[in-house]
Amino acid sequence: MAQWVTIWRAAQLVQVPRGTLQERVRKGEIELSEGLVSTERLLELYPNLRLEASGMLERVTQIRDEAFGRRVRERILPSQEVLAQRLFRQSQELADTQRHLQRYHALVIAQRDRLREFNTQAGGDDARLLALERQLTDGLARVLATEPVDVLDVMDDILKVMSAQVTLRPSGHQFSVEGHDTLLQAGLRAGLNLNYGCGNGSCGMCKMRVIDGQVTRVMAFDYPLSEAEKQQGYTLMCAHTAASSEITLETLEAAGPADIAAQQIVTTIRAVRELAPDTRLLHLQTPRSHRLRFLAGQSVTLGRIGTAATAGDDVRATYPIASCPCDDRNLHFFIAREPENALSRQVFDATLKAGDAVNLWGPVGEFVLADSVHPLVFAACDTGFAPIKSLIEHALSLDSAPSLSLFWLATRKDGHFQANQCRAWSEALDPFEYALFTDSDAAAGARQVAAAMRADLFDIACDFYLAGPEAFVTELASALRSAGVPAAQIAAGVV
Ligand code: FES
Repeated sequence: MAQWVTIWRAAQLVQVPRGTLQERVRKGEIELSEGLVSTERLLELYPNLRLEASGMLERVTQIRDEAFGRRVRERILPSQEVLAQRLFRQSQELADTQRHLQRYHALVIAQRDRLREFNTQAGGDDARLLALERQLTDGLARVLATEPVDVLDVMDDILKVMSAQVTLRPSGHQFSVEGHDTLLQAGLRAGLNLNYGCGNGSCGMCKMRVIDGQVTRVMAFDYPLSEAEKQQGYTLMCAHTAASSEITLETLEAAGPADIAAQQIVTTIRAVRELAPDTRLLHLQTPRSHRLRFLAGQSVTLGRIGTAATAGDDVRATYPIASCPCDDRNLHFFIAREPENALSRQVFDATLKAGDAVNLWGPVGEFVLADSVHPLVFAACDTGFAPIKSLIEHALSLDSAPSLSLFWLATRKDGHFQANQCRAWSEALDPFEYALFTDSDAAAGARQVAAAMRADLFDIACDFYLAGPEAFVTELASALRSAGVPAAQIAAGVV
């Protein structure tokens, strides 16, 4: 018998991006009933699906392999306590279902026996009673017959224990909680713009209300919830994980940059790494108790903490963040060699080095992903790749775009200093394609990129994200508009 599962769970079961299933829903290949997909339809569309092929058994058996050790166990499975709670609740559901089935079975047998009795009392030849009795006997035989196991049901049952599914109200967003993640960590990993602050249970900004299901505390917290809040089911996302396999929570999510408060954080340099002769990767880390809440594509201002040697120097500069908001402690920046920029000078002459403190203010900027189901097209010029990389990583976490394309123009001699990253995305992800361009003139390069896009993208309703120097962004945006792309589908960030 068909089961009904959410799109989120369906994508996990058949191992395809959620965007792919949503696309099939739009094309009418999958019908939804109250937002749910039937497992029967999924098996029709993916007939070769086998438990072994899904990689799920492999993931479970990996746990037995000592070489993967604790790291694999932690990534895949929740703690023993959480696992025990989920198994307990699943066993309760199974026991309930079994009890109901036994009662229904006893009821049907009793009705059949009564029919026999009536028929005997009536002389044993009432055709209607005989037909009814036969119908019950045949029906029972059909119900009790052993049928082949539905592979999706088995996989769904395993997934329910390994990873819980969370639905948020009022947005309807969904995500799964794996391993030792808290609800907050899992939500951020899924690319959601959840409301939070400290991440360690002291500010109360991640407060949520449990509407359905059970959560369990995985960390002590200081934030004082009132008795009334506790009664109404309020608690903290950063200190809890899911104890039931399905839970529904009510919580706040940022709708856009205006919902993200300005922050000031003293960070520490984890590393400065050469990506190319004139490009460095600056890796900053925030304190555990003070992470940066930002949206992919936004920028921050960095400033050197004053020392006797640097007092009076203006060492502030604004850079786009090149990493994903799903890792809010580790912030990456691409720093180009710019002799007139004091911060860049200090990065290149090693005045700024691992272990040094750097002040950070922000985030700022409106160059963020729109809520959309269109294919996404990204175009970057030089270090404009920084916000584009952040947006791509965020889009991959969200898993809702049917496809992602990247066009990267290099005008500097450093070229495509993260071409290996593009290759890695392309090899690992079906819906990701990229093309690299070189031209010493940003505007001429933009025209080259526009021509390449025109070849296969202009007739599709895509959302375009462009980042780089003004000449590149202006030229490309204008080419896109002249080709008929609506202005609302073009977002531009000057870097
Ligand atoms: S983020 Fe501060 S209490 Fe949860």
